[in-house]
Amino acid sequence: MTPSADFQSWVHARQSCIESTLQNVLPAPDIAPQRLHQAMRYAVLGGGKRVRPLLAFAAGELAMADTERVAIAGAAVELIHAYSLVHDDLPCMDDDVLRRGRPTCHVEYDEATALLVGDALQSLAFQLIAEYRLAADPATQLEMVKLLAAAAGSRGMAGGQAIDLEAIGKALSVPELEFMHIHKTGALIRAAALLGVRCGNSLNEKEFAQIDHFAKCIGLAFQVVDDVLDAEASTATLGKTAGKDAQQNKPTYVSALGVAESKAFAEELRQNALKALDGFGERALRLRQLADFIVLRKF
Ligand code: IPE
Ligand code: IPE
Ligand code: MG
Ligand code: MG
Ligand code: MG
Repeated sequence: MTPSADFQSWVHARQSCIESTLQNVLPAPDIAPQRLHQAMRYAVLGGGKRVRPLLAFAAGELAMADTERVAIAGAAVELIHAYSLVHDDLPCMDDDVLRRGRPTCHVEYDEATALLVGDALQSLAFQLIAEYRLAADPATQLEMVKLLAAAAGSRGMAGGQAIDLEAIGKALSVPELEFMHIHKTGALIRAAALLGVRCGNSLNEKEFAQIDHFAKCIGLAFQVVDDVLDAEASTATLGKTAGKDAQQNKPTYVSALGVAESKAFAEELRQNALKALDGFGERALRLRQLADFIVLRKF
């Protein structure tokens, strides 16, 4: 399925909005310490699909959120994501040399710099969420800080990464894989959608739960598709080294279920995600289109 021209132009407009927001919030390359700031910009700018900010925008539209507020919230999530990639690629984790079609941060700079890039990007993300007015009231904004912290921490992304590393060489059961994926990847994706909503008018409890369920399904689907692409796609299309999971003996949906069943599971998750949006009508158009984009993507 080819995405509609209308969706593509929506995506491009928001990608360039997030790119310029990130450009502006990252310290300039000539500010001391220059090398660290240059490496931070290297890790964040000019690459990536920006799926998490796009989800924030789509969820924000549903809640009639101000675009500038969502851009800051989306940028904060993208900074955490970029930090997670820099650390994920380190020799002590996945030991990757290629990311977004370029040498990984520690290859281009050095390991210590890459470590500090991650530290500093994470701090910058929280600085943004604390510094800009993003929500109607301070209590909601404080809730946003907590949401992002929980998604990034040991019971979210960082915890999922710990499980991932412990699982090398083991055969995980499907429920164990699900637990790992929901944490290492799903948590930030979920946070992206919920932060987008929190920038806007408050939804009722049922509506909020619907978006939450949508984001949970799509967050898990995202990593299932990442596992499939690692096995099926080329290094050139991915911009990262293909076939790494099998090479490093990582348990994935592909190693547990095979490619065909993993794809079928991702499709089931897409259907569940779409079902969660029942009743929103046109307000959820962009979320529906993003669900399709995430599950049907080729890179
Ligand atoms: C890659 O994420 C790492 C995972 C969590 C699967 P993305 O596929 O969103 O990477 P970029 O940001 O587009 O490079
Ligand atoms: C990464 O999962 C999840 C993160 C939190 C970064 P992967 O290790 O599968 O991501 P890629 O394939 O290197 O992008
Ligand atoms: Mg990894
Ligand atoms: Mg990796
Ligand atoms: Mg992967």
